[in-house]
Amino acid sequence: MYLGLDLGTSGVKALLIDGSQHVVGSANGALEVSRPHSGWSEQDPADWISATKDAVGQLKRTHPRELAAVRGIGLSGQMHGATLLDASDAVLRPCILWNDTRSFAEAAALDADPRFRALTGNIVFPGFTAPKLAWVKAHEPALFAKVAKVLLPKDFLRLWLTGEHISEMSDSAGTSWLDVGRRAWAPDLLAATDLGVEHMPALVEGTQPAGRLRAELAARWGISALVTVAGGAGDNAASACGMGTVGEGHAFVSIGTSGVLFAANDAYRPSPETAVHTFCHALPATWHQMGVILSATDSLNWLSGVTGREAAELTAELGDTLRAPTGVTFLPYLSGERTPHNDAAIRGAFAGLGHESGRTALTQAVLEGVAFAFRDSLEALHAAGTELSRVTAIGGGSRSRYWLKAIATALGRPVDIPADGDFGAAFGAARLGLIAAEGADPLAVCSPPATASTIEPDAGLVPAFADAYRRYRALYPALRGVSP
Ligand code: XUL
Repeated sequence: MYLGLDLGTSGVKALLIDGSQHVVGSANGALEVSRPHSGWSEQDPADWISATKDAVGQLKRTHPRELAAVRGIGLSGQMHGATLLDASDAVLRPCILWNDTRSFAEAAALDADPRFRALTGNIVFPGFTAPKLAWVKAHEPALFAKVAKVLLPKDFLRLWLTGEHISEMSDSAGTSWLDVGRRAWAPDLLAATDLGVEHMPALVEGTQPAGRLRAELAARWGISALVTVAGGAGDNAASACGMGTVGEGHAFVSIGTSGVLFAANDAYRPSPETAVHTFCHALPATWHQMGVILSATDSLNWLSGVTGREAAELTAELGDTLRAPTGVTFLPYLSGERTPHNDAAIRGAFAGLGHESGRTALTQAVLEGVAFAFRDSLEALHAAGTELSRVTAIGGGSRSRYWLKAIATALGRPVDIPADGDFGAAFGAARLGLIAAEGADPLAVCSPPATASTIEPDAGLVPAFADAYRRYRALYPALRGVSP
């Protein structure tokens, strides 16, 4: 048995697979995000541990024998968060998360230093880790002086699980401190934020062993064997391992809290000017590119909060047949945007409202707006030299057929729906746990799931979607002109 632990933004998922990679059981522990100021997004790392205890505790109750037989654990997690520890590994402040944009000025300053783009292959986005440390240094200098280690969220979980300070390449690529081509910390970039390699965890590949489960936790969960904890991966690379998106030309669209259009690459092909992210993959000597939009299901959840209707109720009101855009346009920039704009200050908008625009028109516009944001990422990947001929859909939003039809039509690409099953980040993490524990061949383990069905672009609506996409594109510069 192998256990995948995915530390997401809205919860920790624990998922058990057997040696033939069948999912045996899974459980969730819930998490909340705290937003004390506009643009801020934080979590208390202690809550990650409680949520993990909760999720694994549920598995102990429902699958005690299977949990006892675990030989490998893989970790996956929300990327970029800054977990700050003092010399005794005590947490110094709430973790500043991936979708926190407070450090936009610090990010722009680091990005203006040409060494960052040259070594990391990426824009220094405000959501990345290095500018957060620059913000802490400027605004919380006494606290900054106590920082002894900076860990990404899942690596903090590893510290609790194993007692080790270790990270791996895919997640570390999102810090702005990694030389992404060489897969090593870049001392010059660390020095630019008054840190050194000693503040960083040791690095392994995602498929390699990276610690062993502490005896106390093994006893609590009824596991007798020595359990290997794999390097694991950032949540997007972990999902890619779960989906078999590990070879050139393979791609997925993830419709989660954030939205990701992800393509696997055999080589390092940085293209920072496109605002595409180029990161290490979880498998050795591979990389990936992705366009990231900050509010995907988060946009629908926002509308759900405003209208007082469940998100599923809102999408159900649209039915299953794709409609022509109504003329109402939604820009999903609720917490700024990464690809293609790199704009932390921009905020979302509805345009084209009329007396006739009811709730369904707003829902439709929200689903289309997110689909058009994915189209922006497709264009950015194209400019970065990566062509996608089809994509596989994952994430909570992929439960809406309507949304998938809108995305297929906006992208002009078929969207494959995997056969029933759970192929997300926790499954990918469990696969990495299996590989690390057994020394298995990563490519043999990370195979793609069968396709249950394919959603083709709606040919009759392609011209109307193209018109609506033009309106969508024209609105960003206009909105930018009136942003505070
Ligand atoms: C990727 C990113 C998000 C988070 C979500 O760069 O910021 O996809 O990883 O958990």
